[in-house]
Amino acid sequence: MTISLPTLAALRIGLFSFIIVGLVSLVYHGTKDKIADNERRALLQSLQSVIDKRLYDNDLVHDKIQLQSGEQAYTVYRAHQAGKPIAAIITSTATQGYNGDIDLLIAINVSGTINAVRVLNHRETPGLGDTIELKKSNWILSFNQLAIEDLEQWAVKRDGGNFDQFTGATITPRAIVNEVKNTTLFFQQHQHEIFQ
Ligand SMILES: Cc1cc2nc3c(=O)[nH]c(=O)nc-3n(C[C@H](O)[C@H](O)[C@H](O)COP(=O)(O)O)c2cc1C
Repeated sequence: MTISLPTLAALRIGLFSFIIVGLVSLVYHGTKDKIADNERRALLQSLQSVIDKRLYDNDLVHDKIQLQSGEQAYTVYRAHQAGKPIAAIITSTATQGYNGDIDLLIAINVSGTINAVRVLNHRETPGLGDTIELKKSNWILSFNQLAIEDLEQWAVKRDGGNFDQFTGATITPRAIVNEVKNTTLFFQQHQHEIFQ
């Protein structure tokens, strides 16, 4: 039996495609667990930037719930120690930044005090709004151990509160202070739902 040239070419293309698909599939299955593990480690590292790993003993990355309040979607990671709730680590977005959204990670202790806040992503102006980054200044540490009872002081100084604004840049710190305040109020109102 003789195979015509077009059939031979089609067979070659088919075989080639089969080998390529097989190789891609092999690479995908070989790396997908590693990618998932890297993502889990990166997330854990972020979470541990707002809560000391000695304060909880549960699997923080997987102990999470999603909650919605109006337009705002919150992912809440729950820290427990010996089965008791310790803190909620809440992802939140300040939408009033100078250059758009500022993603935040906010750890709130069950007592209602802020454990720590960090900025995950932002596009604020270098040299002005980026003072919110810990590697640029200690400003973000001003939230540490703030109590919910003192909520009326949670504003930049220009708005009558306790937080420094930056020279020539009030919009960015105002956006963050307001968002941390809103998230803390949300936590206060939903604490039972979060830790049920
Ligand atoms: C190019 C440019 C970039 C700016 N970037 C920021 C910023 O990232 N964050 C911020 O709060 N203000 C920024 N500002 C300043 C704001 O327009 C605004 O004047 C300021 O936040 C108000 O603060 P002030 O009342 O302390 O001057 C920028 C202004 C210009 C012209």
